[in-house]
Amino acid sequence: MIHIYRFATSLALVAVGVLSVMSSPLHAAQPTADDAPIALVTGANRGLGLELARQLQGKGYLVIGTARKPEKADELRALGVQVEQLDVTDSDSVKALAGRLGDTHVDLLINNAGIFPHNNSIETFDFDGAENAFKVNSLGPMRVTQALLPQLRRSTGKTIVQVSSLMGSIEANTRGTSYEYRASKTAINSFNKTLSVELGPEGFTCVVVHPGWVQTDMGGPNAHLTPEESIRDLVGVIENLSTEDNGRFFNYDGEPIPW
Ligand SMILES: NC(=O)c1ccc[n+]([C@@H]2O[C@H](COP(=O)([O-])OP(=O)(O)OC[C@H]3O[C@@H](n4cnc5c(N)ncnc54)[C@H](OP(=O)(O)O)[C@@H]3O)[C@@H](O)[C@H]2O)c1
Repeated sequence: MIHIYRFATSLALVAVGVLSVMSSPLHAAQPTADDAPIALVTGANRGLGLELARQLQGKGYLVIGTARKPEKADELRALGVQVEQLDVTDSDSVKALAGRLGDTHVDLLINNAGIFPHNNSIETFDFDGAENAFKVNSLGPMRVTQALLPQLRRSTGKTIVQVSSLMGSIEANTRGTSYEYRASKTAINSFNKTLSVELGPEGFTCVVVHPGWVQTDMGGPNAHLTPEESIRDLVGVIENLSTEDNGRFFNYDGEPIPW
């Protein structure tokens, strides 16, 4: 659905010209067609979120990138996207964002913000760390999704992408390690499945994706992919989503991942 919509939008962009500038300096490099699809990316100040913001903007989306500390999100600001404050664990912050968005529609919500607690043994299982992982990785996307439902319902795209992980796949867990992280990603996978069943009849497409092992602060320098490579393929997957994909779990290259 989104790719057809985006194609139409691209034509519209050409038709209206892209040089008019929106009033806020934050929007200086944003596409300007009134009907450009709008994407909101959480945790967009660094890593995969920053690259998602960059590449989606390049594809003609009006991008809203969120950061816990917008005043420090220099690279995100430099893109000229709309920058909004958001801590996904803080319900006041989430509600305030929904309030600021008001009557705006959001075609594509990408719940990308995440943390990776390091722990590989039952003997050192970190209960506080696990709670925190659930707060950010599992409940955070649900909090944002719930708050932005009015904006999503108003949109043409109606697409929700949860940036999960292969490590959330129970079937693919042959190596153990990372108790807290794995379970927090399995939980968002399950939440998304239920969301897909509830919202599917309204025309929503709710999917879970694994971005690959990527060279970010989280992935480290030895990871297989650069953010550019991962997000180039992932954006291709997102552009080709249709309602038939609702509830599915994709690798960044479009291959299905077992639950
Ligand atoms: N990199 C990989 O190899 C890999 C593999 C599989 C899945 N993933 C998933 O991909 C997503 C992005 O990962 P990444 O590699 O880009 O990680 P990253 O470089 O560590 O960036 C994480 C982002 O999440 C934000 N964040 C953390 N806690 C937050 C909160 N409470 N509220 C709002 N934002 C918060 C961070 O903001 P601050 O700067 O304020 O901390 C940052 O923008 C995560 O969900 C991760 O689990 C990554």
